[in-house]
Amino acid sequence: MRTILEVKDLHGGYGKLKILYGVSLRVREKEMVCVIGPNGAGKSTLFKTIVGILKPTSGKIIFDGEDVTGLSTDVLLRKGLAYIPQGRVIFPYMSVEENLEMGAYVRESKEEVMDSLEKVYSMFPVLREKRKKKAGTLSGGEQQLLEIGMALMLNPKILLFDEPSLGLSPKVVNEVFEKIEELRKTGVTIMLIEQNARKALEVSDYGYVLELGRNRFEGPAKELLHNDEVKRLYLGGG
Ligand SMILES: Nc1ncnc2c1ncn2[C@@H]1O[C@H](COP(=O)(O)OP(=O)(O)OP(=O)(O)O)[C@@H](O)[C@H]1O
Ligand SMILES: [Mg+2]
Repeated sequence: MRTILEVKDLHGGYGKLKILYGVSLRVREKEMVCVIGPNGAGKSTLFKTIVGILKPTSGKIIFDGEDVTGLSTDVLLRKGLAYIPQGRVIFPYMSVEENLEMGAYVRESKEEVMDSLEKVYSMFPVLREKRKKKAGTLSGGEQQLLEIGMALMLNPKILLFDEPSLGLSPKVVNEVFEKIEELRKTGVTIMLIEQNARKALEVSDYGYVLELGRNRFEGPAKELLHNDEVKRLYLGGG
């Protein structure tokens, strides 16, 4: 499979505060890749750097064959790199449909927006049902689907998703992951960060474990699930 995203020896952080000490990874087309690791490992910082919110101090980001290191979030979004940050990012007082339309803000033609809207509604029927409702009245799981829907409005080449399970009950986490798997079956390339390492590895093809801003382990997800050290350190024993 063709590589869609490659991160090479990425260093960066917040101003003088260094967080990433040379992270490298690769995502191939139509793959689901997860990044796991303890709190504060730098997972969100890595995503923020990939999507251009933070500028790396060194290293390279290659997206779809092009060196995009240092490009702005907006430009990357137009190129097909979508990002769902950690925590809720919907507009609670706007309707579900208005939120989805916001997701398409860089689209020029109304037809394209309608087309994307239709795709999102057929993938997530609950959003169609509730399209006139204020987004803030949706359940946690539905809000998570809305966030995915917003990111899909630009028909991205890859979706970077920071902590899909955050703040959701275990049952709802399963439902959201089922939807992510469905999405992935439609051919969307996905990279996700998860606290819930076991769940993430169960649904992913490949996994990276980050620790203290560095690559610690990597491998096919099924292998990591059975790796004794990974099990002991990140999967709560068992
Ligand atoms: N805006 C910020 N300014 C300064 N330091 C920050 C900022 N955001 C995060 N950090 C620091 O960067 C380090 C890595 O944080 P990051 O959010 O990338 O970790 P994470 O792996 O995503 O953790 P979590 O699993 O808790 O989400 C932490 O020490 C954190 O305190
Ligand atoms: Mg984080």
